[in-house]
Amino acid sequence: MEKIWTPSSWRDFPIKQQPSYEDKQLLLAVEQELATYPPLIFAEEARSLKSQLADVANGNAFLLQGGDCAESFKAFDANNIKSLFKIMMQMAVVMTFSGGKPVVKVGRIAGQFAKPRSSDTETIGGVEYPSYRGDIVNDIEATMEARIPDPQKLIKAYNQSAATLNLLRAFARGGMADLHKVHSWNLRYMNDNSLDIKYEELASRISEALKFMESCGLTSQNTPQLAQTTLFTSHEALLLNYEEALTRKDSLTGDWYDCSAHMLWIGDRTRALDEAHIEFFRGIKNPIGCKVGPSMQEDELIKLIDTLNPENEAGRLNLIVRMGASKIADHFPNLLKKVESEGKKVVWSCDPMHGNVEKTSNGYKTRDFANILSEVKQFFQIHKAQGSIAGGIHLEMTGQDVTECTGSSSSAVTVDGLSDRYHTQCDPRLNADQSLELAFMIADTLKEAR
Ligand code: PEP
Ligand code: CO
Repeated sequence: MEKIWTPSSWRDFPIKQQPSYEDKQLLLAVEQELATYPPLIFAEEARSLKSQLADVANGNAFLLQGGDCAESFKAFDANNIKSLFKIMMQMAVVMTFSGGKPVVKVGRIAGQFAKPRSSDTETIGGVEYPSYRGDIVNDIEATMEARIPDPQKLIKAYNQSAATLNLLRAFARGGMADLHKVHSWNLRYMNDNSLDIKYEELASRISEALKFMESCGLTSQNTPQLAQTTLFTSHEALLLNYEEALTRKDSLTGDWYDCSAHMLWIGDRTRALDEAHIEFFRGIKNPIGCKVGPSMQEDELIKLIDTLNPENEAGRLNLIVRMGASKIADHFPNLLKKVESEGKKVVWSCDPMHGNVEKTSNGYKTRDFANILSEVKQFFQIHKAQGSIAGGIHLEMTGQDVTECTGSSSSAVTVDGLSDRYHTQCDPRLNADQSLELAFMIADTLKEAR
């Protein structure tokens, strides 16, 4: 592991969860083409996110990371992007206003295409097909041909990421994020009136405060903090040939940055210490994440931290804990104690999605809101008991009114109702109401901790 790092040194290590492309020549040509394309982000932006994540690590800000399980080529649509932007603004304003902490917003967007799978094949209608690995690799349609990995899809994913990021930047800087528009972020699906009233009350208090500030001379025109925001991008850096092609040397510092997104993370299935993903990640300077599932061992986690963040830099490494509501109490406290007792500076965030997947009797993959809530609550309690900092939340969510996760008082999706608007490409997402309800719960917890 201590050999010289280069953007391609991962190629000398064993690697999991990669497609096997038939046309290696075409793959190489695509990689070479991507390497000539402009970076999607600028290294200075990644450094800015890192410094905001250092605030999170120190308890002075809260991280909200969320978006689709998998973006898709078919659902590429301005309304989807806009509604995710709005729900993240709503959640952030709830958590900032009631919880009293600035919220660092990071989307699982503009590049979240590649999916690790539990098996290389899946059986649909009695036929065994190669698994769908995300639109950047193959097609979700259940035919043998659709499932063949196609290198050209890497280019399509890059282009979709660029266009998505362009719109996000326009929303963030062009007026949509102006706090004076706090009422207009409400998506108003009206599934639950009480949630709507709660949000409108909070928005009205903000509007009143803004009117007061305006009479003191502070307006959107002279105070950019009121009119603009930043929504950073992130995805699981699973396909290392894509990530390598977008890894560039920063001209200001001489350091290497993976310019496919501001933040990248390593999935729970590809975090083995002596494998390719760890090798790739140790050399890029972006803020990074690593999923921490129930199989993680204490010593393994310390070695991982030392490899990925040897300088113990706050804001560099986000440990995304995804144990499951029934396992977190058994598995997390000792890991947390070990890491804290060794003085490691990390951001701890809670992914209450990936340990809580269940299959219903009518064949849907779902998650129950009660389990999601329970894992989040336990995460906060465990931190409180140890005096450490619960830094953030990592969600699969959408601004759309889908029916993919069951339960919640605001949305009350039942198992039978899952089929109404079940649109995800991969894992079930919280809908807008469920996301907002969760944000209010987190805001209360943050307020208590103040
Ligand atoms: C994901 O975040 O979509 C994912 C696959 O998570 P994990 O690696 O934690 O299973
Ligand atoms: Co997922």
